[in-house]
Amino acid sequence: YEIYLNGMTGAVPRLPTDLTRLEELTEQRLGPGPVGYVAGSAGNGSTARANRAALERRRIVPRMLRDVHERDLSVEVLGRPLPAPLALAPVGVLSIMHPEAESAAARAAAAQGVPFILSSASSTPIEQVAEAMGDAERWFQLYWSKDREVNRSFLRRARESGFTVLVVTLDTPLLAWRPRDLDQAYLPFLHGVGTANYFTDPAFLAGLAKPVHEDPNAAVLHFVGLFADPGKTWPDLAFLREHWDGPIVLKGVLHPDDARLAADAGMDGVVVSNHGGRQVAGSVAAADALPRVAQAVGDRLTVLFDSGVRTGDDLFKALALGARAVLLGRPYVYGLGLDGQPGVEHVIRCLLAEFDLTLALSGHAGPGSVGPADLVEDAG
Ligand code: FNR
Repeated sequence: YEIYLNGMTGAVPRLPTDLTRLEELTEQRLGPGPVGYVAGSAGNGSTARANRAALERRRIVPRMLRDVHERDLSVEVLGRPLPAPLALAPVGVLSIMHPEAESAAARAAAAQGVPFILSSASSTPIEQVAEAMGDAERWFQLYWSKDREVNRSFLRRARESGFTVLVVTLDTPLLAWRPRDLDQAYLPFLHGVGTANYFTDPAFLAGLAKPVHEDPNAAVLHFVGLFADPGKTWPDLAFLREHWDGPIVLKGVLHPDDARLAADAGMDGVVVSNHGGRQVAGSVAAADALPRVAQAVGDRLTVLFDSGVRTGDDLFKALALGARAVLLGRPYVYGLGLDGQPGVEHVIRCLLAEFDLTLALSGHAGPGSVGPADLVEDAG
């Protein structure tokens, strides 16, 4: 109610409460280059559009007279109690949005009690982000490198910095065809902006013929050559189990058979995601893949979801389709670009306030009772 009360006294929020307006505002403020990289997706954008359409097509069927006076948004995810079914998705190179980059976003997540998932392609070293977060819940996302020593080193640094859950992104063995990057020649990775994590890693540095400052181009090329590995297969997962003793979640799973393989390999969870439409143009919408994955492995794995979530009702729909919790991508990145840490906090608070109201107005006092019966699919 804070926002309404402020409204009565004439105080208008610094950022809009309609989070779908943030992209346009950020573009006005920061220009088309950085926003082109964030907003851009694979091919002609059909997957990103399909993500939105698949959520919009599902409609909530509210129930009445169910005592929603007191509500509790908390859930347990991978054995950890969370205040709400939400985490911030791993997004690389946040320095293109704000000078405080990952540290500001991580502090915002910590202040709101939401887990922050740090990208291995971050512009801030793992240790520095950990320091910004105190003892708040943090997860680490790995781009699974060709170089075993780099993987070992990243996993060791993350573990020693208090990161609990490992999120391994499978859908990016190569960077996809992304016209907005190609047309603008605005690939921040190639400008070295997003590689600070690598450029501070001892195993990565050991692979260089000359120090980074003497030959930055060679360092960037080295990074591009080893950041991921299109040769990996399911048996390789054993390496991760050996080097990480906490929960492991595979991100980018869309096929129910892949979800079954993840469970067979002893993984703890999957993120049903198409990388926000940035990898396979023409891919299945993430929200269409979600119920099939949840049906296949919901009793064996923790099923998380991202790609296209913009509003509180999207979050509700994702839970109804079988997700335990949701990762938020672009909206918090725009919040960061517009107003640093307070901007990210604004986005988290608006999303959760809207989710809370959606729950209540739909007849639920918490996430636990939300299920497939709460939705219909619009034929239109
Ligand atoms: C991403 N994403 C991503 N994922 C990941 O595992 N590691 C990464 O470094 C990145 N980097 C990244 C950069 C940018 C600019 C974007 C927009 C996305 C994907 C991200 O984690 C998530 O899957 C999507 O952002 C979710 O979709 P929405 O919410 O942005 O539609």
